[in-house]
Amino acid sequence: SNPERERLLQAYEWTSKFFHYLLKNTEHGKPAMDYLRSRGFSDKMIDQFQIGYAPESWNTLVQFLTKRSFDLEEMEKGGLLSTRSDGTGFIDRFRDRVMFPISDRNGRVIAFGGRVLGDGQPKYLNSPESKLFNKSRTLYNLHQAKSSIRKLRQIVLFEGYGDTISAWEAGVHNGVATMGTSLTESHVSMMKTMADEILICFDGDRAGQSSAMKNIPLLESAGIRIKIAILSDGLDPDDFVRKYGSERFMSQIIDGAVSTTKFKLIYLKKNHILLEEDGKISYLKEVLPIIAALSSSTEREVYLRELSSEHQLSYESLKQDCNLIRQTMQ
Ligand code: CTP
Ligand code: MN
Ligand code: MN
Ligand code: MN
Ligand code: MN
Repeated sequence: SNPERERLLQAYEWTSKFFHYLLKNTEHGKPAMDYLRSRGFSDKMIDQFQIGYAPESWNTLVQFLTKRSFDLEEMEKGGLLSTRSDGTGFIDRFRDRVMFPISDRNGRVIAFGGRVLGDGQPKYLNSPESKLFNKSRTLYNLHQAKSSIRKLRQIVLFEGYGDTISAWEAGVHNGVATMGTSLTESHVSMMKTMADEILICFDGDRAGQSSAMKNIPLLESAGIRIKIAILSDGLDPDDFVRKYGSERFMSQIIDGAVSTTKFKLIYLKKNHILLEEDGKISYLKEVLPIIAALSSSTEREVYLRELSSEHQLSYESLKQDCNLIRQTMQ
């Protein structure tokens, strides 16, 4: 084993417990606690996800780590501290933020995401990449979700911390988050060893939906089945649970997740004005190749019949166009 790594893991574990304690048991933590409560985070979830608070001070963590004989330079490299701008020492990296500990798959804390209370910038301050933390190989909450994932052979993939936590409380115990970054090859190969299906449940804003769209080929080429949850009105999964409740989240969003083809049809529809002939035709020009690419003729028929009834077009002419496209594809 690597002693520097072990020391850093120890520091992250103690720091995480310390932040959690400060949030729950001190006057300093009260505004953060009020903030979390106002957003609907329950005590149970605050404990389960070991949410904490990094105080406003410049040296609370410096003192905490010094008392425990950690090497401050090592802690700075590990992402817990920053260097003073005049180079004369170290200061706390995270100040006045709600802290979400990020764990490896064995449940050891390896990083933090720190959220500002309210509207400041940056919204999240994250630990830098370190000896412990490689963002492109880490999925938030994998340690708690892995047993459910193995049982269900399915992973629900979220963007963020709040989404994963609210969904957990609603009953999704196989949920993990990419933490805003795009999905990488190593995320995908990790997921493939544990599950046969990924349910992408990204935010209902443009960014979230287009990132869902972008991730489809990567997952498909890895041979993983994909379903996609449809969120709209810019709501993210966390917002949806708060607004409409757990039951509706489970039945409408999770159980209502659609195939990638259906998702593409819905996604592309938003870019066209279907009330106008031009819009309808350009929509069909984008959509028909997607249907034509499906290898199953039953599947093609299902989507073509849907298009036909939705746009008052004959199934026969849609099928004819679809077959023409298929010929050019071979
Ligand atoms: N993220 C990040 N840094 C940012 C913005 C986002 O690391 N400046 C990551 C976080 O992991 C965040 C996720 O990307 O949870 C999704 O981003 P976003 O949807 O913007 O944030 P929310 O999770 O919805 O945060 P909140 O509900 O607190 O606004
Ligand atoms: Mn606790
Ligand atoms: Mn988002
Ligand atoms: Mn979001
Ligand atoms: Mn959110």
